Amino acid sequence: MQPSIFPPETREAFAAAYPARPVKLTHGLLGHPLLTLDALARLAEALPEHEIEYNPGTLPIGIRPEDVPKSDLTVTETIRSIGQAGSWVALKRIEKVPAYRELLHEVLGQLRDIVEPRTGQMMQLEGFIFITSPGSVTPFHFDPEHNILLQVMGHKTMTLFPVEDEAMFSAEIHERYHLGLHHRNLSWYDAYAEKGSAIHIGPGEAIHVPVKAPHWVQNGDEPSVSLSITWRSDWSYAEADARAFNHMLRKIGLSPASPAPFPARNLAKALAWRAVRKLKGAA
Ligand SMILES: [Fe+2]
Repeated sequence: MQPSIFPPETREAFAAAYPARPVKLTHGLLGHPLLTLDALARLAEALPEHEIEYNPGTLPIGIRPEDVPKSDLTVTETIRSIGQAGSWVALKRIEKVPAYRELLHEVLGQLRDIVEPRTGQMMQLEGFIFITSPGSVTPFHFDPEHNILLQVMGHKTMTLFPVEDEAMFSAEIHERYHLGLHHRNLSWYDAYAEKGSAIHIGPGEAIHVPVKAPHWVQNGDEPSVSLSITWRSDWSYAEADARAFNHMLRKIGLSPASPAPFPARNLAKALAWRAVRKLKGAA
């Protein structure tokens, strides 16, 4: 058993916010040997190729000819030269490498006693690492998982928006999202800006990002490394399935009520959708 990764005041803050509200937290993973740039370059070599997305970046103005990198930087080279403008690397499902799986399970295991009494069993534990050059932006989107974003190197500002605001995203967008019919990035309108709240994090700090809370991210002016630890739950699966069931009702001309926010469990519609899915599978 490792020493506590989350100090008592962070556990308290997380317990007060989970699962519905974003909150700033702190963590004790700084200096962890699996999270140095060298270790992450080795992780990139160990992960299956399809779990890696990267952009080697653009060259700065006025670079000396001898400093021009090869045009086809590998992911490992990109990680080692992450200060270069416009470059970024996303290492996905890091739990496919045993040492990282252990780390992910250890970190999430320390929050299990807060999470499971509220949203049920923690399932589909997945970890992602984002290595980004100064100034990069992650566009406006939402994610289906419970998520804590832990900052390891550099700074970033995440601006989060209310989950339940259907003036921003209609029930139909939620439904299509869960059926895989909607693009990950969401449309942005300047009028949304006033509804957002920004949370700034640096090394040793973290953000709890509620399921499907829309957000966008601005990196600071130095390279950034963040670890995202995610999980699904009985509650998040039920919300997703209730949305899918509503989509079916809408197709036959009804206007179903949207799933109610936590602590509602949306079980009736979720069970109905699971029955429909079973019938479809049997057909
Ligand atoms: Fe995200």
